[in-house]
Amino acid sequence: MTITAIIVAAGKGERAGGPVPKQYAMVGGKSLLAHAVMAFSSHQSIDQIIVVIGEGQSDLAREALGEVAGLRIITGGAERQDSVAAGIAAAGDADILLIHDAARPFLPHTVINRLIEAMETSDGAVPALPVADTLSRGNQHLGDVVDRTNLYRIQTPQAFRAEAIKTAHSQWRGPVATDDAQMARAAGYRVALVAGDIMLEKVTTPQDFAEAERRISARLISRSALGFDVHQLASGEELWLGGVRIDHDKGLVGHSDADVALHALTDALLGALGDGDIGTHFPPSDPQWRGARSQRFVEHAAQLVSAAGGIIDHVDLTLICEAPKIGPHKDAMRAAIANMLGISVRHVSVKATTTERLGFTGRGEGIAAQAIATIRLPEGN
Ligand code: CTP
Ligand code: MG
Repeated sequence: MTITAIIVAAGKGERAGGPVPKQYAMVGGKSLLAHAVMAFSSHQSIDQIIVVIGEGQSDLAREALGEVAGLRIITGGAERQDSVAAGIAAAGDADILLIHDAARPFLPHTVINRLIEAMETSDGAVPALPVADTLSRGNQHLGDVVDRTNLYRIQTPQAFRAEAIKTAHSQWRGPVATDDAQMARAAGYRVALVAGDIMLEKVTTPQDFAEAERRISARLISRSALGFDVHQLASGEELWLGGVRIDHDKGLVGHSDADVALHALTDALLGALGDGDIGTHFPPSDPQWRGARSQRFVEHAAQLVSAAGGIIDHVDLTLICEAPKIGPHKDAMRAAIANMLGISVRHVSVKATTTERLGFTGRGEGIAAQAIATIRLPEGN
């Protein structure tokens, strides 16, 4: 059984306002769309992800998403249902489709699991939340109270047998539909209700952004970890420090480019994740890392944070050496590291100190580096 996720992100976000359509706006350090993609890409049952974007949004989408394995980006249409139809047409021969709004960034794996389980016995399944408030139909003055028994708010992702939702879309003759489950039902298919989640609330208005920020923050727990590394200085080697090549009479010796600062930083990030160290991820015995740019190690660690649904809040480095002078290169290092981590340069600090000519750093035999990384990870990681 193959499962394709279709994320519709082709809207204009008119009610949310803002300089870019809401799916490209940031919450918790990532765009709404990137959060939604990450929820599927980190779930083991999802075989393919199709993101449906609007005309002229490909630069925004590329910036928001970077490289995600198994991701396809296609163009949608004027109404949500047109965008979904484009996604369905692109899905190939998947057995089950999960159709999701990019405007619902926080998608718990528990909801995906419930939907997949319900699909064993149903043509479709949707997350639903019971209505808790008293309901009144009317304007300005209280109208008739609507009995809320068995009333539900329907969320996405909505799961369907691919054949069923294809048929439902082609048969739909009603007005513009706000979701796909109503089309499936109209075509005579049974759609099961599974428990929804308040994390899945849709971002629609400007106020919803503050609420979404609050929801994601409440689920994230801060963690910090240290990294430390030393490499020997020798003649005839290039000197790479903090991702920047520095002119110097000596360079650092190591099986990669020996960028001691980036190695310490990689270890700090892996430490904060509780996921081993640079040696376990990039064994020196593996020839593919010989002469590798250490930038790849840092980027890999940053991707692991992101895959865990985390955010890098801040990193701080201390380089310990007598020479070269670090001061003139600090800003270039900060910019290079910020770029590798995909965070603002304001959240990257680079410092340096000598050891008063004492010890191996004092004698210029090597350079040491310390790093600390502060990240936030979802509860339970
Ligand atoms: N959507 C889409 N194609 C459209 C319209 C909407 O893919 N032609 C997507 C949106 O990007 C969003 C989801 O459908 O992820 C739900 O739609 P909605 O919340 O209405 O988003 P927008 O249409 O962008 O917002 P607005 O209606 O305020 O303009
Ligand atoms: Mg809309």
